[in-house]
Amino acid sequence: MSPGQTTGDRLRESRKRRGLSRPQAECHLAKECGIRQFLDIGTGLPAPGNTHEIAQQIAPDCRIVYVDNDPLVLAHARALLTSGPRGRCDYVDADVRDVPTILGAASWTLDLERPVGLLLLAVLHFVADLDHPADIVAALARQLAPGSFLAISHLTADLAPGPVGAGVAAFNMLVPAGLAPRTHAQVSALFAGLPLVAPGVVPVTQWRATAPCPGPVDMYGGLARSHWERP
Ligand SMILES: C[S@@+](CC[C@H](N)C(=O)[O-])C[C@H]1O[C@@H](n2cnc3c(N)ncnc32)[C@H](O)[C@@H]1O
Repeated sequence: MSPGQTTGDRLRESRKRRGLSRPQAECHLAKECGIRQFLDIGTGLPAPGNTHEIAQQIAPDCRIVYVDNDPLVLAHARALLTSGPRGRCDYVDADVRDVPTILGAASWTLDLERPVGLLLLAVLHFVADLDHPADIVAALARQLAPGSFLAISHLTADLAPGPVGAGVAAFNMLVPAGLAPRTHAQVSALFAGLPLVAPGVVPVTQWRATAPCPGPVDMYGGLARSHWERP
């Protein structure tokens, strides 16, 4: 930690610096991979560089389904995350653990026979081991057409066990759902065996970084390509 920095500062800073973040993930998927449909689970409060803004800048006909289990987030999303005229946005009130509801609602807006960019950015660390996050991801990814992509970013304590452990312990005392930071091996296992796009699972600021990014980062990120045929 830098001098004077508290554990809370470190976690906040790390969240801000999540380099395989929405802007970077969508930009890569829309520009380099030709993805025109996005399922963004764990939307978060609207902020500059929302999924539809980035994607529709590249291709105005992009369709985005935002999913979150926080009614406040969804109220802001409905008010502020509005699509351009050639694309479409929809909002689904659902828990990431409820895969049938998410896919059923998403299919009103997305053509699940065509490739989708599935974004699980900074959300799976809210899912406890008891809820089997890897099975949830696999259940989602199995229903996506071949050529779909899966982007995950996830809190880790690997790089700073003391500060992150202390921050998570304090958070978990206050918030019943809690946070589960995971190791590199555990985050890699969330991709359900799908082939990872280079550079694999890395600290998010190192994912295709074009310049060194100073400061702490306690998030891993990675992108995988689905080759599964839908059942
Ligand atoms: C840290 S924000 C991430 C925002 C955005 N994905 C990003 O990377 O900037 C986490 C979001 O996940 C949502 N969330 C947490 N647990 C969830 C769950 N079990 N199901 C769906 N959404 C969840 C929260 O309400 C919050 O909006």
